[in-house]
Amino acid sequence: MKKMTTASLLAKKQAGEKITALTAYDASFAKLFDSKGVDVILIGDSLGMVLKGEPDTLAVTVAEIAYHTRAVSKGVERAFVIADMPFMSYGTPTDALHNAAQLMSAGASMVKVEGGEWLANTITQLTQRGVPVCAHLGLTPQSVHVFGGFKVQGRQQSQADQLVADAQSLEAAGAQLLVLECIPQDLAQRVSVSINIPVIGIGAGPHTDGQILVMHDMLGVSANYMPKFSKNYLALTGDLHTAVEAYIDEVAQGTFPGPEHSFAQ
Ligand code: KIV
Repeated sequence: MKKMTTASLLAKKQAGEKITALTAYDASFAKLFDSKGVDVILIGDSLGMVLKGEPDTLAVTVAEIAYHTRAVSKGVERAFVIADMPFMSYGTPTDALHNAAQLMSAGASMVKVEGGEWLANTITQLTQRGVPVCAHLGLTPQSVHVFGGFKVQGRQQSQADQLVADAQSLEAAGAQLLVLECIPQDLAQRVSVSINIPVIGIGAGPHTDGQILVMHDMLGVSANYMPKFSKNYLALTGDLHTAVEAYIDEVAQGTFPGPEHSFAQ
């Protein structure tokens, strides 16, 4: 079994093969997802909402992500493991280097940061020192209070143009992967073809290079509301193993997300 790497994720984009991704927070689910062939496992700061029952992701700490990263990495043989940098853990490049080191030594192969062009210098410093970076644009949940709620982003032309420019400058700074969350599907398509690194969408329509869902949403067991862009595969299949297989298969075939899970302009 060949381990997924930044190189194999890039090769999937170049071959037009969809990248499959899920969040996980413990060794057992990580092992299950890995055994079913998911390409990427993210220890998301969504754990603040789905594990801790918080209304948002802001109270999550580096120590918590490190704890769950250690557990997840024990269950994974093939998937590429990404750990989220929590709110304010990368406010300065110095903080980012210090906190990313903790997550990499806990077992992550990449860290994820939310934000646009202002992060370019931090991303360059991280990659130059051996920490691969996934950028995250669109509805970046750590900025929920700036946005005034969990709302679709990039609907105005100026916002859309800014998002494309941000994606290009983060790629130029060294980011090797990009997550796009809750943006119109045409904008996600525009971003995906305007950069060379793989783009993984969540609520961003079918035209990105891959898809990710929060595992609790995919299984319909989230403590919070079920987002429109998600799909309850456990309810559809009635069995945990079949649910995971169906999600991976539909993403790989490009049949998830459908129009009912996507946002128009
Ligand atoms: O925290 C998380 O789980 C995430 C995904 C929604 C992409 O950032």
